[in-house]
Amino acid sequence: MKIWFIGDIVGQPGREYAGEIIRKYAPLYQPDLIVANGENASHGRGITSKSAEELYDAGVELITLGNHTWDQKDLLNFIDHDQRIVRPANYPLGTPGRGYTICKVGQISVLLINAMGRAFISELDSPFRAIDEILLEHPSIHHVLVDFHAEATSEKLAMGWYLDGRVSAVVGTHTHVPTNDARILPQGTAYITDLGMTGPRDGILGMDRTGVLERMLTHRPARFEVAAGRRQFCSVFIELDDHSGKACSIEPFLQYEE
Ligand SMILES: [Fe+2]
Ligand SMILES: [Fe+2]
Repeated sequence: MKIWFIGDIVGQPGREYAGEIIRKYAPLYQPDLIVANGENASHGRGITSKSAEELYDAGVELITLGNHTWDQKDLLNFIDHDQRIVRPANYPLGTPGRGYTICKVGQISVLLINAMGRAFISELDSPFRAIDEILLEHPSIHHVLVDFHAEATSEKLAMGWYLDGRVSAVVGTHTHVPTNDARILPQGTAYITDLGMTGPRDGILGMDRTGVLERMLTHRPARFEVAAGRRQFCSVFIELDDHSGKACSIEPFLQYEE
């Protein structure tokens, strides 16, 4: 089974470029499942139903979120009934939406979990224990994908090692900068610290430089807008053994407009 996992899609440029790249390369690489982090899909903050539909139309089948989950109020209109979208599982009990979802790829059940880190990003419940609980509830599912949305490389590596041999893949999101450490851990879990970002290439993490620099230089509030211009696409292909769910390969797939 081949999974295509796409890093944080930022704004309209990210949505459009993701669509172009998927339409161009999906026929060639024939992924069985396409997952994307969509926490920045609408104007760089959160995701509306319109943006989610645009990603689904482009071929994305499942969407994960992160610290920007709640930035668009429209999400509350569909997160409870759209089984294709997951927000971090370690939010408190009673939070709208779901922290994991199960889909079928042919005859195989695939469990997708989203969790958020706590170092420099959130004060949620333990992501380690939240994932343990989900895995305990679903002992018969061997194809398990985890999007660990976190800032600190140490916390992400810790999660990779913590879950090695118990899930198929742990991919990091949130920093918007792809890391060069894709590997298969000794017990068969594919791992990468961060997938990177799909969206404007010449902004700062996808946002226009002007506002970001103004805030950094003046320490006064400044408006952030999604940047224009050249675009980039960051993702990995992960091949899983159909029987065991263990990873056979993880290959970064990056595209940049010149
Ligand atoms: Fe993001
Ligand atoms: Fe984030």
